[in-house]
Formats: sequence, C-alpha cells, structure tokens
Amino acid sequence: IKLFIDTANVEEIKAASELGVISGVTTNPSLIAREGRDFVDVVREITAIVDGPISAEAVSIQAGPMITEAEELAAIHPNIVVKIPMNAEGLKAVSVLSKKGIKTNVTLVFSANQALLAALAGATYVSPFVGRLDDIGQDGMVLIDEIVQIFDLYGLETEIISASIRHPMHVTRSALAGADIATVPYKVLLQMIKHPLTDLGIDKFLADWEKVPKRQGG
Ligand code: E4P
Repeated sequence: IKLFIDTANVEEIKAASELGVISGVTTNPSLIAREGRDFVDVVREITAIVDGPISAEAVSIQAGPMITEAEELAAIHPNIVVKIPMNAEGLKAVSVLSKKGIKTNVTLVFSANQALLAALAGATYVSPFVGRLDDIGQDGMVLIDEIVQIFDLYGLETEIISASIRHPMHVTRSALAGADIATVPYKVLLQMIKHPLTDLGIDKFLADWEKVPKRQGG
C-alpha cells in the first residue's frame, strides 16, 4: 500500500513529505475552500513539494466542460490527476480523458458497481469513501474488500484509493484488504506514528541513560 495525504494545506503537505512516507496528494473543493486561496496557486505549490500524483477536482457538471476543465488542470503539471465525480457525465468524461492520456481519479464512489464502471471507463484511480459510509451505518471497509476482489478477479488495472479515512484502523484495514493507496488526513498520519508504549519506552531509555557513568573530560 502507498500513502497519499488528503489535504490542500501546504504546511501539512511539507511536514508530511519530510517524513518520507507520502507519495501523492489528494484535494477536493472542500479542502481547497478551507485554505481561502486561489485554487491554481495552491495546486502549483503542491506540485513543487510532492513528486507524485496530485489529485485536483473538476467542478463542471456536464461532460464537455468537465473535459475542458480537466485538460486545463492537467496542463498545470504532469503529475496532476483530475478528480471526476462518479455519475453518468463523469463516466463520459473519463472515457474521453483516458483516451487522451489524462489521468483521472473517480471520486465519491460508494458501491462496487460504481467502482467497476469507473474502471471500465478507463479511470486511473477510484476513490471509495469509507468514512462517509461508516457515518450512515454501513461498513465502509466491506466496500474496499469488494472492489479489491472484483479488480483482482478481472485484472482491472485501475488503482484503488481508500478515501474518507477517519482513523488509523481505516488505514490498517485498507492495507489488509489490498487497497493500492490510502489517502490520509494529516491528523491521522500523526496518529499512526504514535504509540503510548513507544513514548514510555523512549522516556525510560533516556532516564536510564542518565544513570550510565560518564567519562571525565569527554
Ligand atoms: C478523497 O479524495 C477525499 O478528498 C476525502 O478522502 C474525503 O474525505 P471526507 O469524507 O473526510 O471529507
């Protein structure tokens, strides 16, 4: 499994990138709005920080304008992946964009059939939203299991991004299920690092080190 960071905040992206564990970035209109800055400026800055797939979302409703928007976004940098919503217009756009060699990430996927359609249309990535399914009382991880099984059975090359991750267990479960990628909020990335026994262990080692007799004069 690879980890992407799910944020449009450049400070978070820089900090996450320094950890050496992040290989891509996903954004969405809500994450961009949170920054209160120009969309293209933010995307450009992100491409300068992370050398990997950077998802930027198209907001047009019809396939035609969606394709134009996708071409404009893709022209910003070779690493740009255009996020396209999972609906009929989105599928039409993805099938055209895949033939043009523009990478796509079909977003707002909530069923195995939606993922299957996106893959058949030629999507580079699909993003099933596990946390939002959990929110309505369905087990989001079951969706990841189903999509992994279907894509494996039929050799579909579309990569699965486990998205809408809310806590570290979502990442562990995504990895066990065989998702290609989990896109994690910065907060979850920090939570993944922590373990109380690690912190206690470091404190104990440092306290014991103080008891080791030190040589005089260095
Ligand atoms: C995925 O690419 C989305 O940006 C994201 O994971 C949505 O997560 P949310 O349900 O926490 O908004």
